[in-house]
Amino acid sequence: MSNRKAITVSPLEIEEQKHYIDELKNRIWGKGLKYHIVTYGCQMNVHDSEKLAGILNQIGYEETDEQREADLILFNTCCVRENAELRVYGNVGALKSYKQANPNSIIGVCGCMMQQNEISDYIQQTFPFVDLIFGTHNLHRFPMLLLQALDSNHTVVEVLESEGAVVEHVPVKRTKGVSAWVTIMYGCNNFCSYCIVPYVRGRERSRRPADILGEIRKLAAEGYKEVTLLGQNVNSYGKDLDEKLLFPQLLRKINEIDEIERIRFMTSHPKDLSDDLIQTMAECDKVCKHLHLPIQAGSNRILRKMNRKYSREVYMELVEKLRSAMPGIALTTDIIVGFPGETEEDFLETLSAVEQVRYDSAFTFVYSPRRGTSAAKMKEQILQSEKKQRLARLNELVNKISKEKNLEYLDRNVKVLVEGYSKNRTDILTGRTDTNKIVNFKGDTDLIGKTAMIKITEAHSWSLEGKVAETN
Ligand code: 5AD
Ligand code: SF4
Repeated sequence: MSNRKAITVSPLEIEEQKHYIDELKNRIWGKGLKYHIVTYGCQMNVHDSEKLAGILNQIGYEETDEQREADLILFNTCCVRENAELRVYGNVGALKSYKQANPNSIIGVCGCMMQQNEISDYIQQTFPFVDLIFGTHNLHRFPMLLLQALDSNHTVVEVLESEGAVVEHVPVKRTKGVSAWVTIMYGCNNFCSYCIVPYVRGRERSRRPADILGEIRKLAAEGYKEVTLLGQNVNSYGKDLDEKLLFPQLLRKINEIDEIERIRFMTSHPKDLSDDLIQTMAECDKVCKHLHLPIQAGSNRILRKMNRKYSREVYMELVEKLRSAMPGIALTTDIIVGFPGETEEDFLETLSAVEQVRYDSAFTFVYSPRRGTSAAKMKEQILQSEKKQRLARLNELVNKISKEKNLEYLDRNVKVLVEGYSKNRTDILTGRTDTNKIVNFKGDTDLIGKTAMIKITEAHSWSLEGKVAETN
């Protein structure tokens, strides 16, 4: 059942979905059915999965970490780089025998990859046992689509080609108890030449301030202490709203919400990082002194070809402004190596930019050509072996600096918001500093959700270790 169309989402649509939720509840509730969601890609996707989980919990499915035990398996996909796509094909393909053994199970594939017609067609043709395919713009219609999939012998497909209005009030099952993600805007208008996001996530749409503030007040009442505001380019928040409330003003309003102790946000585009925002970050006590500011490349020639709309010099001026307004601020970044035409000299400029800024950490990527983007059509694509070599050289430098930066924390007492137990360790607590450093330490369960003073005793590239100094 192929159903490709463009629609505008009416505000009544969530009301309509409630009807499908009731119908699903009648069928699912109390049956002990389980779901498993596999998420690829960025925080936006992780948060979308929390929304899907919220809907599934509402109708009576329970979550399981064991894929083979699940009655419903969802893959929430990412198409930013090719390797994530290849993993999706491998993992969906591996479920063929599972589906044969469990014909009543539901297998769904959703998210950014599905927004590309040729890919959703390919999934449908290659893996006919997939029951449900949907994209990013119609996630709120999941109850209706799931109901159709339960009743159909064919793959149910619905991919909306364009984004509708911002949809509110989708239930969310959040995975952490201390820190919550809150989407403040969807889409991107920037069209960096390598990036597929504007094609699959649509144009920028800001959520209304009242909806965002309402959600955060509710989170505060539920006991959350930290919020991370999400958007592809949060610095352009509000530019599309009638009500003129821009990102710095939004931060000031969130800063006033009692019980919320920390505010983080990502991602920021350097071209939209205003003096007002820097001043607001410095003045608001709850806004964490950490900024993720993707540089992507250190050479002006490559930055131009990437359509980033800033030069290395402008970026370095921003870094200076940030550090003079907030000494000690942590800076992190994204970097791509092996963009088409990147010479050894260009690459050395990326290395020198990393040395100049001295990032606390960086996400580093090998350039991956994405169909439909302008960079994919550029001549002078770089050999994979060369790209990998550059990535290794870059990572060596980034990791060395991360370790040096972390060593500066040795013997210092830092405030850590305790999030829970460290992965795979039931005796070690984990939390983060204001500057987003992960700190692991031994402590009592009742510290979870509180701020603890930790004395740092060991520093690694990725994390710090310490012991409780005092609590407040
Ligand atoms: N190839 C490699 N990295 C990419 N990114 C986005 N598109 C590509 C691509 N085609 C990286 C950018 C971006 C991060 C989320 O992913 O660095 O900031
Ligand atoms: Fe992609 Fe550039 Fe938009 Fe970031 S700002 S999502 S890199 S197009």
